[in-house]
Amino acid sequence: MKTLDLDLAARSYPIYIGAGLLGQAELLTRHVAGTRVAIVTNETVAPLYLAKLRAHVASLQPVEVVLPDGEQYKSLEVLNRIFDALLSARCDRRTTLIALGGGVVGDMAGFAAASYQRGIPFIQVPTTLLSQVDSSVGGKTGVNHALGKNMIGAFYQPHAVIIDTDTLITLPDRELSSGLAEVIKYGLIRDPEFFVWLEANLDKLLARDAEALAFAIHRCCRNKAEVVAADELESGVRATLNLGHTFGHAIETGMGYGAWLHGEAIAAGMAMAADLSQRLEWLTTAETARIEKLIRRARLPVRAPGSLSPARFLELMAVDKKVQDGRSRLVLLKHLGEAVVTDECPRTALEATLASMREAA
Ligand code: NAD
Ligand code: GLY
Repeated sequence: MKTLDLDLAARSYPIYIGAGLLGQAELLTRHVAGTRVAIVTNETVAPLYLAKLRAHVASLQPVEVVLPDGEQYKSLEVLNRIFDALLSARCDRRTTLIALGGGVVGDMAGFAAASYQRGIPFIQVPTTLLSQVDSSVGGKTGVNHALGKNMIGAFYQPHAVIIDTDTLITLPDRELSSGLAEVIKYGLIRDPEFFVWLEANLDKLLARDAEALAFAIHRCCRNKAEVVAADELESGVRATLNLGHTFGHAIETGMGYGAWLHGEAIAAGMAMAADLSQRLEWLTTAETARIEKLIRRARLPVRAPGSLSPARFLELMAVDKKVQDGRSRLVLLKHLGEAVVTDECPRTALEATLASMREAA
């Protein structure tokens, strides 16, 4: 097992990464604050992994909340089911909430923990590649709104993140690829050496080579922990973690939540951000080609859906958490391995990217 620490003074927490960690009861129970736990999971993950967790906390009067599976259920309505269960079971403020699942469960359970009785402790147990490399770390929690992705939420840090890499064995191929989008993101925004490693080792990741996956998860969590420690509430550098997300969130909202997986939308969004960066003469044609090639090799899309017109895209992009005082801001690549946040992208260049980076309708 490897352990990283996310350094946030009094709210610092460990990120444990290793094979078989779900079997280690003490790793979990040492982070339980009171004498009661609630486990939030979904109907796909519950039959796979809930029994293992339940066994560790059997003496802690566990409450179990099994949500429907899917991005379309990441909503305030479904969130309420967690509150219903906690209140019905008379859970108090020292109940520790455990999120067992992918990013949807993690974001929803985290937001429930942030708001139930104004805040209860929680632990992230991520089970998808995407949640293991990104969403379980850093304390962004929340739900979608019909008008915009992740628009309702809170920054609220977990007490620990427990990453059992063995859970990836049951992950569908499409979901593995979706997670690779966020993996590639770290190479692009701040870790060019890792980008080169990915070019050499992507096939191992696709083949679920345990050593390669463990290396990539650790490297991504290390990158994320450094960024979050420097800028927890996203007043600066943390926004670079959103490379491809302004485009990607527009795709997810515009196509209907769940139609494109989060990582698929982010992959196309990163290719669009690279194209725009090339138009600004920050990236060379050769660098853009390398980026597209790696994303394609990860079995991910590099074009936006043709059914979203550039005009509709611009409308959707206006609902973005990076908008400040009415001005849109975009994360672009100054170099391969260095991201910048800018509100000075010429409209003509953006329109050219939107027009050219679409699948045929
Ligand atoms: P997800 O949670 O929908 O999980 C993907 C699918 O895999 C689901 O069907 C799930 O039930 C299933 N699954 C989970 N673990 C499994 C396992 N071990 N074996 C088999 N099936 C398994 O999607 P995701 O890709 O994990 O997360 C995407 C979400 O994360 C989006 O809502 C996105 O907005 C959010 N996100 C949040 C942050 C953050 O910082 N909080 C960062 C990135 C993404
Ligand atoms: N996934 C972006 C962030 O955590 O800031």
